[in-house]
Amino acid sequence: MSTSTNEAVSVEAPRSGRISPKYARTAGGKGNFEMLAWLFMRVSGAILIVLIFTHLFVNLMVGDGIHAVDFGFVAGKWASPLWQVWDLVMLWLAMLHGTNGVRVIINDYADKNTTRMTLKSILYIASVVIIVLGTLVIFTFDPCPAGAPADMIADFCKA
Ligand code: HEM
Repeated sequence: MSTSTNEAVSVEAPRSGRISPKYARTAGGKGNFEMLAWLFMRVSGAILIVLIFTHLFVNLMVGDGIHAVDFGFVAGKWASPLWQVWDLVMLWLAMLHGTNGVRVIINDYADKNTTRMTLKSILYIASVVIIVLGTLVIFTFDPCPAGAPADMIADFCKA
């Protein structure tokens, strides 16, 4: 980062002259993966706008809106295959989009090979854990588990 005489602050382009030659990286070798990743960010971003704003509208504004959100509300939504698939696609796209965005930031700003490898390993492990757990929750969620103690289950299960 450098400050010019008129106090404007400018940030150097990533991977520009600031990097020591000992951390120089060779270009290429990845086919068109980076181009596809660039395209994925645009396509997933456009789809996420529809998924996220519909999600917010249905959960927070329709009917009693935010006041209706509780355990039973979520149970009711996930009883419908439409909302299961909606939430699944939203989870996967948001996670892959966010993970790829952070991957690019790490590639741009972490100079040492070991730093990049460490940060990206943590990123990928965290993403896989969240995607797998989230997917399992959406499809295995049972609001009224058989055999659960009566004081542990929701009122509507007893009816
Ligand atoms: C509302 C829908 C969204 C749209 C339209 C959108 C759009 C975009 C686009 C076009 C980029 C690429 C920017 C570039 O290459 O310069 C981007 C980057 C990124 N997005 Fe999203 N995004 C959305 C939602 C999300 C969500 C939900 C997350 C987090 C899970 C997220 C995390 C990121 C990150 C970390 C980057 C990299 C930032 C960067 O390059 O500076 N985005 N987004």
